[in-house]
Amino acid sequence: MPSLELCWTTQLTRDAYAEIAALCDSEYAAAWGPWDPRAGYGYARGELHVLVRRDGQLLGYAASARRFIGVGAGEVLIAGTGGVLTRKDARGTGIGRMLLTGLQGASRDVAPADFGFLGCREEIVPFYEACGYTRVKAPILDVSPKDAMTVVKSHGPTMICPGTKATGSWPAGTIDLRGLPW
Ligand SMILES: CC(C)(COP(=O)(O)OP(=O)(O)OC[C@H]1O[C@@H](n2cnc3c(N)ncnc32)[C@H](O)[C@@H]1OP(=O)(O)O)[C@@H](O)C(=O)NCCC(=O)NCCS
Repeated sequence: MPSLELCWTTQLTRDAYAEIAALCDSEYAAAWGPWDPRAGYGYARGELHVLVRRDGQLLGYAASARRFIGVGAGEVLIAGTGGVLTRKDARGTGIGRMLLTGLQGASRDVAPADFGFLGCREEIVPFYEACGYTRVKAPILDVSPKDAMTVVKSHGPTMICPGTKATGSWPAGTIDLRGLPW
């Protein structure tokens, strides 16, 4: 039976960082080089980390961090989620859903936010939909992880889930992340 651990950045041990690095490198090292705990791959850093293990082995990892963002003329508080990754040999066994369920719960209690939020590739949208996310179709502005400076406008895919607010109350209008995506 897999177990789930939620911890804040300040609680992550050196061993946990090494486990996360090994998992990320198993997927991305060839394309992106070694994962770095401080810089990651240039995306926004997490404040709350979720680790799923079975028999002590890390099977999945994801993280979230909250930020006030602009939507239309207003503002919402989101738990931006990123780094969602499961071990290749454990995929299709519910670990990804477990990670997201853990972060979704946290966005309603220990790390409250109006909504959970993430950006993803088109082909991953069905996974997030299966895990309780809804697609928002609106233009989105964010800062490019390539140089941490250039503001980029795109059309997602952008996915949201309920935090302390229902997804139906997501406001209309352009989304401005006011910083890096997760
Ligand atoms: C995407 C990823 C996290 C899915 O993890 P997983 O542990 O295999 O997911 P789960 O087993 O919990 O699947 C949960 C649900 O999503 C569905 N699902 C999983 N991967 C899917 C995919 N690529 N496309 C469509 N549906 C998918 C499953 O069928 C399951 O639905 P069901 O229970 O209704 O049948 C994993 O494949 C991965 O790490 N990929 C590489 C990294 C990546 O692309 N991360 C996403 C970055 S945005």
